[in-house]
Amino acid sequence: MTQSLDKVQATPQNSPLRGVEKLNLAQFRSYETFSLSLDLSPVVLTGPNGVGKTNLLEAISFLIPGKGLRRARLSEIKKQGSEEPWSLSYHLKEGGGELQIGTGQDPDSPTSERRLTKINGERVKNQSILAEWVSMVWLTPQMDRLFLDGPGERRRFLDRLVYGFDPTHAPRLNRYEKALRERNLLLRQGCYDHHWMQGLEEILVNEGIAITVSRREVVGQLISVLKSQDHTFPQADLSLEGDFETLLQIRSSLDAEEEMRRRLSDNRDQDRFTGRTSLGAHRSDLVVMYPEKNQAAALCSTGEQKALLLSIVMASARLLSARTGAIPLLLLDEVVAHLDKGRRTALFEAILQLNMQVWLTGTDAALFGELQGNAQFFGLGE
Ligand SMILES: Nc1ncnc2c1ncn2[C@@H]1O[C@H](COP(=O)(O)OP(=O)(O)O)[C@@H](O)[C@H]1O
Ligand SMILES: [Mg+2]
Repeated sequence: MTQSLDKVQATPQNSPLRGVEKLNLAQFRSYETFSLSLDLSPVVLTGPNGVGKTNLLEAISFLIPGKGLRRARLSEIKKQGSEEPWSLSYHLKEGGGELQIGTGQDPDSPTSERRLTKINGERVKNQSILAEWVSMVWLTPQMDRLFLDGPGERRRFLDRLVYGFDPTHAPRLNRYEKALRERNLLLRQGCYDHHWMQGLEEILVNEGIAITVSRREVVGQLISVLKSQDHTFPQADLSLEGDFETLLQIRSSLDAEEEMRRRLSDNRDQDRFTGRTSLGAHRSDLVVMYPEKNQAAALCSTGEQKALLLSIVMASARLLSARTGAIPLLLLDEVVAHLDKGRRTALFEAILQLNMQVWLTGTDAALFGELQGNAQFFGLGE
Protein backbone atom coordinates (compact mmCIF):
# COMPACT_ATOMS: atom_id res chain seq x y z
CA MET A 1 0.00 0.00 0.00
CA THR A 2 1.32 3.43 -0.84
CA GLN A 3 1.97 6.21 1.63
CA SER A 4 -0.67 8.45 0.07
CA LEU A 5 -3.36 5.80 0.46
CA ASP A 6 -2.60 5.51 4.17
CA LYS A 7 -2.68 9.25 4.54
CA VAL A 8 -6.18 9.64 3.18
CA GLN A 9 -7.66 6.61 4.92
CA ALA A 10 -11.11 7.39 6.21
CA THR A 11 -12.85 5.57 9.01
CA PRO A 12 -16.52 5.87 9.89
CA GLN A 13 -15.60 7.04 13.38
CA ASN A 14 -13.72 10.15 12.34
CA SER A 15 -15.49 11.21 9.19
CA PRO A 16 -18.94 12.21 7.97
CA LEU A 17 -18.89 9.17 5.70
CA ARG A 18 -22.39 7.74 5.31
CA GLY A 19 -23.75 4.94 3.18
CA VAL A 20 -25.52 1.61 2.99
CA GLU A 21 -25.12 -0.72 5.97
CA LYS A 22 -27.33 -3.51 4.77
CA LEU A 23 -28.77 -4.52 1.41
CA ASN A 24 -31.40 -7.24 0.98
CA LEU A 25 -32.60 -8.45 -2.41
CA ALA A 26 -35.55 -10.70 -3.20
CA GLN A 27 -36.43 -12.08 -6.65
CA PHE A 28 -34.12 -9.45 -8.12
CA ARG A 29 -32.45 -10.41 -11.46
CA SER A 30 -30.19 -13.43 -10.85
CA TYR A 31 -30.83 -13.35 -7.07
CA GLU A 32 -33.64 -15.23 -5.39
CA THR A 33 -32.64 -13.78 -2.05
CA PHE A 34 -29.35 -12.18 -1.16
CA SER A 35 -28.06 -9.98 1.57
CA LEU A 36 -24.91 -7.94 2.14
CA SER A 37 -23.83 -6.39 5.45
CA LEU A 38 -21.50 -3.47 4.96
CA ASP A 39 -19.46 -0.85 6.69
CA LEU A 40 -19.23 2.62 5.23
CA SER A 41 -15.93 2.26 3.37
CA PRO A 42 -15.66 1.67 -0.41
CA VAL A 43 -17.13 -1.64 -1.60
CA VAL A 44 -15.30 -3.87 -4.09
CA LEU A 45 -17.38 -6.59 -5.78
CA THR A 46 -15.40 -9.14 -7.73
CA GLY A 47 -16.18 -12.38 -9.55
CA PRO A 48 -16.48 -13.93 -12.99
CA ASN A 49 -18.67 -12.59 -15.81
CA GLY A 50 -22.36 -13.01 -15.15
CA VAL A 51 -22.01 -13.67 -11.41
CA GLY A 52 -24.25 -10.68 -10.56
CA LYS A 53 -21.92 -7.73 -9.86
CA THR A 54 -23.75 -5.22 -12.05
CA ASN A 55 -27.06 -6.57 -10.72
CA LEU A 56 -25.96 -5.47 -7.23
CA LEU A 57 -25.01 -2.01 -8.48
CA GLU A 58 -28.38 -1.80 -10.18
CA ALA A 59 -30.02 -2.70 -6.86
CA ILE A 60 -28.17 0.19 -5.20
CA SER A 61 -29.18 2.51 -8.05
CA PHE A 62 -32.85 2.12 -7.03
CA LEU A 63 -32.07 4.19 -3.96
CA ILE A 64 -32.69 7.26 -6.08
CA PRO A 65 -35.79 8.09 -8.15
CA GLY A 66 -35.90 6.75 -11.71
CA LYS A 67 -35.42 3.55 -13.62
CA GLY A 68 -32.04 2.62 -12.24
CA LEU A 69 -28.64 2.06 -13.78
CA ARG A 70 -29.93 -0.08 -16.66
CA ARG A 71 -33.07 1.98 -17.32
CA ALA A 72 -34.99 -1.28 -17.24
CA ARG A 73 -38.71 -1.98 -17.13
CA LEU A 74 -39.78 -3.22 -13.70
CA SER A 75 -41.07 -6.50 -15.16
CA GLU A 76 -37.64 -7.29 -16.71
CA ILE A 77 -35.99 -7.12 -13.32
CA LYS A 78 -38.04 -9.82 -11.60
CA LYS A 79 -36.12 -13.09 -11.39
CA GLN A 80 -37.18 -15.21 -14.30
CA GLY A 81 -39.65 -17.89 -13.29
CA SER A 82 -40.45 -16.25 -9.96
CA GLU A 83 -44.08 -15.86 -8.88
CA GLU A 84 -43.24 -13.18 -6.35
CA PRO A 85 -42.63 -9.47 -7.08
CA TRP A 86 -39.03 -8.26 -6.69
CA SER A 87 -38.09 -6.13 -3.74
CA LEU A 88 -35.07 -4.41 -2.24
CA SER A 89 -34.47 -3.13 1.24
CA TYR A 90 -31.64 -1.00 2.52
CA HIS A 91 -30.46 0.11 5.93
CA LEU A 92 -28.61 3.38 5.66
CA LYS A 93 -26.41 5.31 8.03
CA GLU A 94 -27.78 8.83 8.04
CA GLY A 95 -26.11 11.44 10.27
CA GLY A 96 -26.20 9.93 13.75
CA GLY A 97 -29.21 7.77 12.94
CA GLU A 98 -30.53 5.01 10.79
CA LEU A 99 -32.83 5.05 7.83
CA GLN A 100 -34.66 2.14 6.28
CA ILE A 101 -35.76 2.27 2.66
CA GLY A 102 -37.69 -0.39 0.79
CA THR A 103 -38.55 -0.39 -2.89
CA GLY A 104 -39.81 -2.77 -5.56
CA GLN A 105 -42.76 -3.95 -7.57
CA ASP A 106 -46.14 -3.22 -6.07
CA PRO A 107 -47.67 -6.62 -5.11
CA ASP A 108 -51.15 -5.09 -5.56
CA SER A 109 -50.46 -4.00 -9.16
CA PRO A 110 -47.69 -6.27 -10.48
CA THR A 111 -47.83 -4.89 -14.04
CA SER A 112 -47.41 -1.26 -12.93
CA GLU A 113 -44.19 0.52 -13.95
CA ARG A 114 -44.34 2.56 -10.74
CA ARG A 115 -42.14 1.36 -7.95
CA LEU A 116 -43.63 0.98 -4.51
CA THR A 117 -41.33 2.81 -2.08
CA LYS A 118 -41.33 2.89 1.70
CA ILE A 119 -39.23 5.01 4.02
CA ASN A 120 -39.01 3.73 7.59
CA GLY A 121 -41.98 1.48 6.89
CA GLU A 122 -44.21 4.29 5.57
CA ARG A 123 -45.33 4.10 1.99
CA VAL A 124 -44.40 7.32 0.15
CA LYS A 125 -46.66 8.84 -2.50
CA ASN A 126 -43.92 9.92 -4.84
CA GLN A 127 -40.51 8.23 -5.16
CA SER A 128 -38.96 11.64 -5.99
CA ILE A 129 -38.66 12.10 -2.21
CA LEU A 130 -35.77 9.58 -2.32
CA ALA A 131 -33.59 12.34 -3.81
CA GLU A 132 -33.78 14.17 -0.48
CA TRP A 133 -32.07 11.24 1.22
CA VAL A 134 -29.63 9.87 -1.32
CA SER A 135 -27.71 11.36 -4.23
CA MET A 136 -25.87 9.17 -6.70
CA VAL A 137 -23.63 9.21 -9.73
CA TRP A 138 -22.63 6.16 -11.75
CA LEU A 139 -20.32 5.17 -14.52
CA THR A 140 -21.08 2.04 -16.56
CA PRO A 141 -19.41 0.42 -19.58
CA GLN A 142 -22.38 1.62 -21.68
CA MET A 143 -21.14 5.17 -21.12
CA ASP A 144 -17.78 4.40 -22.79
CA ARG A 145 -19.00 5.87 -26.06
CA LEU A 146 -19.94 9.19 -24.49
CA PHE A 147 -17.21 11.14 -26.31
CA LEU A 148 -17.64 9.27 -29.59
CA ASP A 149 -21.42 9.56 -29.92
CA GLY A 150 -23.28 12.74 -30.76
CA PRO A 151 -23.91 15.62 -28.36
CA GLY A 152 -27.31 14.18 -27.33
CA GLU A 153 -25.73 11.57 -25.06
CA ARG A 154 -23.45 14.15 -23.43
CA ARG A 155 -26.39 16.49 -22.88
CA ARG A 156 -28.36 13.69 -21.21
CA PHE A 157 -25.34 12.88 -19.04
CA LEU A 158 -25.06 16.53 -17.98
CA ASP A 159 -28.81 16.88 -17.46
CA ARG A 160 -28.83 13.85 -15.15
CA LEU A 161 -26.24 15.64 -13.05
CA VAL A 162 -28.24 18.86 -13.08
CA TYR A 163 -31.33 16.97 -11.77
CA GLY A 164 -29.38 16.32 -8.59
CA PHE A 165 -29.04 20.06 -7.97
CA ASP A 166 -32.10 21.64 -9.51
CA PRO A 167 -35.54 20.04 -9.03
CA THR A 168 -37.04 22.32 -11.71
CA HIS A 169 -34.64 21.08 -14.41
CA ALA A 170 -36.50 17.87 -15.36
CA PRO A 171 -39.96 19.49 -15.69
CA ARG A 172 -38.40 22.36 -17.67
CA LEU A 173 -36.74 19.94 -20.06
CA ASN A 174 -40.05 18.10 -20.51
CA ARG A 175 -41.85 21.34 -21.37
CA TYR A 176 -39.02 22.35 -23.70
CA GLU A 177 -38.99 19.02 -25.55
CA LYS A 178 -42.78 18.98 -25.90
CA ALA A 179 -42.78 22.50 -27.42
CA LEU A 180 -39.89 21.48 -29.70
CA ARG A 181 -41.77 18.43 -30.99
CA GLU A 182 -44.86 20.54 -31.61
CA ARG A 183 -42.91 23.25 -33.45
CA ASN A 184 -41.19 20.67 -35.66
CA LEU A 185 -44.52 19.02 -36.44
CA LEU A 186 -46.12 22.33 -37.40
CA LEU A 187 -43.15 23.17 -39.60
CA ARG A 188 -43.39 19.84 -41.38
CA GLN A 189 -47.12 20.28 -41.89
CA GLY A 190 -46.27 23.61 -43.49
CA CYS A 191 -49.42 25.43 -42.55
CA TYR A 192 -49.82 26.79 -39.05
CA ASP A 193 -51.35 29.45 -36.90
CA HIS A 194 -48.76 32.17 -36.26
CA HIS A 195 -49.95 32.88 -32.73
CA TRP A 196 -49.68 29.20 -31.88
CA MET A 197 -46.18 29.06 -33.33
CA GLN A 198 -45.19 32.19 -31.41
CA GLY A 199 -46.47 30.60 -28.19
CA LEU A 200 -44.31 27.52 -28.77
CA GLU A 201 -41.25 29.62 -29.53
CA GLU A 202 -41.88 31.59 -26.36
CA ILE A 203 -41.65 28.32 -24.38
CA LEU A 204 -38.44 27.39 -26.25
CA VAL A 205 -36.93 30.77 -25.38
CA ASN A 206 -37.99 30.95 -21.72
CA GLU A 207 -37.34 27.34 -20.79
CA GLY A 208 -34.26 27.21 -23.03
CA ILE A 209 -32.61 30.09 -21.17
CA ALA A 210 -33.44 28.62 -17.76
CA ILE A 211 -32.15 25.18 -18.80
CA THR A 212 -28.93 26.72 -20.13
CA VAL A 213 -28.40 28.80 -17.00
CA SER A 214 -28.73 25.67 -14.80
CA ARG A 215 -26.42 23.63 -17.02
CA ARG A 216 -23.85 26.44 -17.05
CA GLU A 217 -23.98 26.76 -13.30
CA VAL A 218 -23.36 23.04 -12.76
CA VAL A 219 -20.57 22.94 -15.36
CA GLY A 220 -18.99 26.04 -13.75
CA GLN A 221 -19.05 24.35 -10.35
CA LEU A 222 -17.67 21.11 -11.76
CA ILE A 223 -14.81 23.09 -13.29
CA SER A 224 -13.97 24.60 -9.89
CA VAL A 225 -14.13 21.19 -8.19
CA LEU A 226 -11.89 19.71 -10.88
CA LYS A 227 -9.38 22.55 -10.43
CA SER A 228 -9.32 22.24 -6.65
CA GLN A 229 -8.59 18.49 -6.49
CA ASP A 230 -5.23 17.61 -5.07
CA HIS A 231 -4.73 14.05 -6.25
CA THR A 232 -2.82 12.94 -9.30
CA PHE A 233 -5.67 11.39 -11.24
CA PRO A 234 -6.06 13.12 -14.65
CA GLN A 235 -8.56 15.98 -14.68
CA ALA A 236 -10.97 16.68 -17.51
CA ASP A 237 -11.27 20.16 -18.95
CA LEU A 238 -14.96 21.03 -19.49
CA SER A 239 -16.90 23.64 -21.37
CA LEU A 240 -20.44 24.03 -22.56
CA GLU A 241 -21.10 25.11 -26.12
CA GLY A 242 -24.34 26.02 -27.79
CA ASP A 243 -26.56 28.75 -29.19
CA PHE A 244 -27.76 30.15 -25.86
CA GLU A 245 -24.33 29.66 -24.30
CA THR A 246 -22.68 31.83 -26.95
CA LEU A 247 -25.32 34.53 -26.55
CA LEU A 248 -25.11 34.48 -22.75
CA GLN A 249 -21.37 35.09 -22.95
CA ILE A 250 -21.88 38.47 -24.55
CA ARG A 251 -25.43 39.49 -23.59
CA SER A 252 -27.60 39.73 -20.50
CA SER A 253 -30.29 37.04 -20.09
CA LEU A 254 -32.96 39.48 -21.23
CA ASP A 255 -31.07 40.47 -24.37
CA ALA A 256 -30.26 36.83 -25.10
CA GLU A 257 -33.97 35.95 -24.83
CA GLU A 258 -34.90 38.78 -27.17
CA GLU A 259 -32.27 37.74 -29.70
CA MET A 260 -33.36 34.08 -29.59
CA ARG A 261 -37.02 35.04 -30.05
CA ARG A 262 -36.06 37.01 -33.16
CA ARG A 263 -33.82 34.28 -34.59
CA LEU A 264 -36.39 31.52 -34.10
CA SER A 265 -39.01 33.59 -35.88
CA ASP A 266 -36.57 34.51 -38.70
CA ASN A 267 -35.60 30.85 -39.13
CA ARG A 268 -39.11 29.48 -39.62
CA ASP A 269 -38.89 29.34 -43.41
CA GLN A 270 -35.48 27.70 -43.31
CA ASP A 271 -36.60 25.25 -40.61
CA ARG A 272 -39.60 24.25 -42.75
CA PHE A 273 -37.23 22.64 -45.24
CA THR A 274 -35.51 20.47 -42.67
CA GLY A 275 -38.53 19.97 -40.41
CA ARG A 276 -36.21 20.70 -37.48
CA THR A 277 -35.54 23.60 -35.16
CA SER A 278 -32.01 24.72 -35.93
CA LEU A 279 -31.39 26.73 -32.75
CA GLY A 280 -31.80 26.20 -29.05
CA ALA A 281 -30.97 24.36 -25.85
CA HIS A 282 -31.47 20.98 -27.60
CA ARG A 283 -28.23 21.60 -29.50
CA SER A 284 -25.85 22.28 -26.60
CA ASP A 285 -22.80 20.12 -26.14
CA LEU A 286 -20.58 19.34 -23.19
CA VAL A 287 -17.10 19.67 -24.66
CA VAL A 288 -14.41 17.66 -22.89
CA MET A 289 -10.65 18.01 -23.37
CA TYR A 290 -7.67 16.14 -21.95
CA PRO A 291 -5.64 19.10 -20.67
CA GLU A 292 -2.25 17.38 -20.41
CA LYS A 293 -2.31 16.78 -24.14
CA ASN A 294 -4.66 19.58 -25.12
CA GLN A 295 -6.52 16.87 -26.96
CA ALA A 296 -10.27 16.54 -27.62
CA ALA A 297 -11.71 13.62 -25.62
CA ALA A 298 -12.98 11.92 -28.81
CA LEU A 299 -9.38 11.60 -30.02
CA CYS A 300 -8.04 10.16 -26.76
CA SER A 301 -7.31 6.47 -26.21
CA THR A 302 -9.89 4.20 -24.56
CA GLY A 303 -8.03 4.33 -21.23
CA GLU A 304 -7.65 8.10 -21.40
CA GLN A 305 -11.36 8.47 -22.16
CA LYS A 306 -12.17 6.25 -19.18
CA ALA A 307 -9.96 8.44 -16.99
CA LEU A 308 -11.74 11.58 -18.24
CA LEU A 309 -15.15 10.06 -17.52
CA LEU A 310 -13.99 9.02 -14.07
CA SER A 311 -12.67 12.47 -13.35
CA ILE A 312 -16.05 13.99 -14.29
CA VAL A 313 -18.15 11.54 -12.26
CA MET A 314 -15.87 11.84 -9.22
CA ALA A 315 -16.07 15.65 -9.39
CA SER A 316 -19.86 15.34 -9.70
CA ALA A 317 -20.05 13.10 -6.66
CA ARG A 318 -17.91 15.55 -4.71
CA LEU A 319 -20.10 18.44 -5.80
CA LEU A 320 -23.31 16.59 -4.91
CA SER A 321 -21.98 15.76 -1.49
CA ALA A 322 -20.98 19.39 -0.88
CA ARG A 323 -24.17 20.92 -2.24
CA THR A 324 -26.91 18.57 -1.01
CA GLY A 325 -27.42 17.11 2.43
CA ALA A 326 -28.15 13.71 0.89
CA ILE A 327 -26.03 10.58 1.35
CA PRO A 328 -23.71 10.57 -1.69
CA LEU A 329 -22.99 7.26 -3.41
CA LEU A 330 -20.78 6.60 -6.42
CA LEU A 331 -21.14 3.43 -8.52
CA LEU A 332 -18.22 2.51 -10.79
CA ASP A 333 -18.94 -0.57 -12.89
CA GLU A 334 -15.92 -2.26 -14.48
CA VAL A 335 -13.75 0.85 -14.52
CA VAL A 336 -10.30 -0.38 -13.52
CA ALA A 337 -9.59 -2.88 -16.30
CA HIS A 338 -8.93 -0.08 -18.81
CA LEU A 339 -6.48 1.79 -16.58
CA ASP A 340 -2.73 1.33 -16.36
CA LYS A 341 -1.10 0.82 -12.98
CA GLY A 342 -0.26 4.51 -12.45
CA ARG A 343 -3.79 5.64 -13.17
CA ARG A 344 -5.24 2.85 -10.99
CA THR A 345 -3.14 3.97 -8.03
CA ALA A 346 -4.20 7.58 -8.61
CA LEU A 347 -7.84 6.49 -8.93
CA PHE A 348 -7.79 4.63 -5.60
CA GLU A 349 -6.18 7.63 -3.93
CA ALA A 350 -8.91 9.89 -5.38
CA ILE A 351 -11.66 7.45 -4.31
CA LEU A 352 -10.42 7.40 -0.72
CA GLN A 353 -10.21 11.19 -0.68
CA LEU A 354 -13.87 11.34 -1.67
CA ASN A 355 -14.67 9.91 1.72
CA MET A 356 -17.85 8.23 0.56
CA GLN A 357 -19.14 4.74 -0.06
CA VAL A 358 -17.89 4.14 -3.59
CA TRP A 359 -18.99 0.84 -5.17
CA LEU A 360 -16.51 -0.79 -7.57
CA THR A 361 -16.76 -3.97 -9.62
CA GLY A 362 -14.25 -6.01 -11.56
CA THR A 363 -13.48 -9.58 -12.54
CA ASP A 364 -10.03 -9.63 -10.95
CA ALA A 365 -9.63 -8.86 -7.24
CA ALA A 366 -5.87 -8.45 -7.72
CA LEU A 367 -6.42 -5.18 -9.63
CA PHE A 368 -7.85 -3.66 -6.43
CA GLY A 369 -4.97 -4.81 -4.24
CA GLU A 370 -3.97 -1.28 -3.28
CA LEU A 371 -7.38 -0.76 -1.66
CA GLN A 372 -6.81 -3.69 0.74
CA GLY A 373 -7.31 -2.44 4.28
CA ASN A 374 -9.23 0.62 3.13
CA ALA A 375 -12.16 -1.06 1.41
CA GLN A 376 -14.44 -4.07 1.93
CA PHE A 377 -14.09 -6.88 -0.58
CA PHE A 378 -16.83 -9.29 -1.62
CA GLY A 379 -15.92 -12.17 -3.91
CA LEU A 380 -19.15 -13.29 -5.55
CA GLY A 381 -19.63 -16.86 -6.71
CA GLU A 382 -16.76 -18.15 -4.57
N1 LIG B 1 -34.65 -11.04 -14.65
C1 LIG B 1 -33.63 -11.90 -14.55
N2 LIG B 1 -33.82 -13.14 -14.03
C2 LIG B 1 -32.80 -14.00 -13.89
N3 LIG B 1 -31.55 -13.71 -14.24
C3 LIG B 1 -31.28 -12.52 -14.76
C4 LIG B 1 -32.31 -11.54 -14.94
N4 LIG B 1 -31.75 -10.42 -15.48
C5 LIG B 1 -30.44 -10.71 -15.63
N5 LIG B 1 -30.15 -11.95 -15.20
C6 LIG B 1 -28.84 -12.63 -15.18
O1 LIG B 1 -27.98 -11.99 -14.26
C7 LIG B 1 -26.68 -12.47 -14.55
C8 LIG B 1 -25.63 -11.56 -13.95
O2 LIG B 1 -25.62 -10.32 -14.53
P1 LIG B 1 -24.60 -9.17 -14.17
O3 LIG B 1 -24.86 -8.66 -12.83
O4 LIG B 1 -24.71 -8.20 -15.29
O5 LIG B 1 -23.19 -9.91 -14.20
P2 LIG B 1 -21.73 -9.33 -13.93
O6 LIG B 1 -21.25 -9.97 -12.67
O7 LIG B 1 -20.91 -9.76 -15.10
O8 LIG B 1 -21.83 -7.85 -13.80
C9 LIG B 1 -26.64 -12.67 -16.06
O9 LIG B 1 -26.18 -13.96 -16.32
C10 LIG B 1 -28.10 -12.53 -16.48
O10 LIG B 1 -28.50 -13.52 -17.36
MG1 LIG C 1 -21.19 -6.36 -15.07
